[in-house]
Amino acid sequence: MSEYTFLRGPADWWRQAVVYQIYPRSFADVNGDGIGDFAGIIDRIPYLASLGIDAVWLSPFYPSDLADGGYDVADYRNVDPRIGTLAEFDSMIQELHKNGIRLFVDIVPNHSSDQHEWFQAALTAGRGSAERERYIFREGKGENGELPPSNLVSHFGPEGWTRVEDGQWYMHLFAKEQPDFNWANQEIRDDFLKTLRFWSDRGVDGYRVDVAHALIKDLEGELPDRDSYALEVMMGDGTDKLFDRDEVHDIYKTWRKVFNEYDPPRVAVAEAWVHAHRRPAYASAEGLGQSFNFDLLVQPWNAQKFKETVTYNLAAAEREGSSTTWVLSNHDNIRHATKYGMPDNLNLHDWQHNGAKSQLPKIDLVKGANRARAAVMFELALPGSTYFYQGEELGLHEVFDIPADQMQDPQWFRSGGTKFTRDGCRVPLPWTSAGSSFGFGPGGAHLPQPSWFGEYSVERAEGDVDSTLHLYRKALKLRKTLLTIEKYEWVRTWNRNVLHFKRPNGWHCITNFGSKPVKLPKGEVVLSSAPLVGGKLPADASAWVIAK
Ligand code: GLC
Ligand code: CA
Repeated sequence: MSEYTFLRGPADWWRQAVVYQIYPRSFADVNGDGIGDFAGIIDRIPYLASLGIDAVWLSPFYPSDLADGGYDVADYRNVDPRIGTLAEFDSMIQELHKNGIRLFVDIVPNHSSDQHEWFQAALTAGRGSAERERYIFREGKGENGELPPSNLVSHFGPEGWTRVEDGQWYMHLFAKEQPDFNWANQEIRDDFLKTLRFWSDRGVDGYRVDVAHALIKDLEGELPDRDSYALEVMMGDGTDKLFDRDEVHDIYKTWRKVFNEYDPPRVAVAEAWVHAHRRPAYASAEGLGQSFNFDLLVQPWNAQKFKETVTYNLAAAEREGSSTTWVLSNHDNIRHATKYGMPDNLNLHDWQHNGAKSQLPKIDLVKGANRARAAVMFELALPGSTYFYQGEELGLHEVFDIPADQMQDPQWFRSGGTKFTRDGCRVPLPWTSAGSSFGFGPGGAHLPQPSWFGEYSVERAEGDVDSTLHLYRKALKLRKTLLTIEKYEWVRTWNRNVLHFKRPNGWHCITNFGSKPVKLPKGEVVLSSAPLVGGKLPADASAWVIAK
């Protein structure tokens, strides 16, 4: 058995897997209702296979009122009829597996949709009922309970409590259509185990666990106040009443038991925005097994910041026995080709969370695209798994001109437009350079596509040997042959703007974050993100070199 097959053996296939995130409603639409569907995904399996990915992760496809793009789940064991049927789900997974692609599904345990039958039952059953015990209902403050039980601001802003007809209030860390479950209730715990078995029995290989750090809350005594909904506020250290409490891991131990009932064991990755030193518990082999590291996604294009991120996370992964994840884009963030084209001195975080109403920063599209190409080669050469977001393989840019009346993101509405809209990265994909919704489907797209989308279409990219799409394919193909044990070593470069690391089999990756071309080490250049200039690696580029 070669080292490679050993690494991708049945049980640890996920450790260095490349996972492609599909946002189902925006991927491909077959029946022409403007919403992507399973039939669309099935149609595009040859495309997915041509990329050379190991797995697909589907954002929620469950029945939903779409108050938060499907992260408001009305039925955990069913499919949104606008997306497809369970039978189509089965065909899709079968087709994916036939093509050597595994499947992750999103699981959303912190909250359901307010349309979930349990929440509806809680509303009817009234105060003190067993039905209300499945969620977090409390009496309000003030003479007639007219004030919320605490000053809790939700993540999307503003209030985190909503009052129901009989006067009680329920807690929601996100939109009001996303009531938080009461995980102290055994019924909730049992029901999620049932859901995990339901999808695992259908062949699902892994789970991406939404807001994995929020399930357990300390609601004894004074209820928690929160005057901000910034992400940092969600990052506790075990002492916070709402986030990242140690007891949450008891839940994931019971999930792990279910995962291990299967062969190969089902796997999971936690979406837990916690401090880096709190991640190992989520990634433990007795827990979910892997936890997202979003550190690269939040870094600006800067050699030293990239280096620190890699060094820290790979050391942590080695200590904890898990493998780390590399992520540059997802459905919650500005597409990285666009981000890297923004001014280097911009405080992007501040702009995204407090300043979206102000002027859009100036964007250098070419610089952004070059850096994005360099970044993907950088991450793919590292030990660990890599998560792509649909469209990044096209070098696709963020859409900033969606008219307010067509936006869908509750983060934008609830913050009064102060926070950026995540709709800009969720615009349906361009498959063709012209025609109805650029090949997304025959009936338009649920979010408007800009006129320039065709230039980034799959069709256009297919016909251009130097396109980002072809770069992704070449990189993934090479990576399969080069992949080795999860070790790496920094090589000194004498230039603060250049990063160079090597893997034990002589695979070197060099990235030039600076503005001047740099020399490459001796060996065969097997891939570069930009043409070499007189044998040198230009600015904003990466090369893979096999040492001789
Ligand atoms: C996660 C999802 C995001 C969603 C939120 C609430 O952060 O990635 O899209 O809005 O959870 O479910
Ligand atoms: Ca459709």
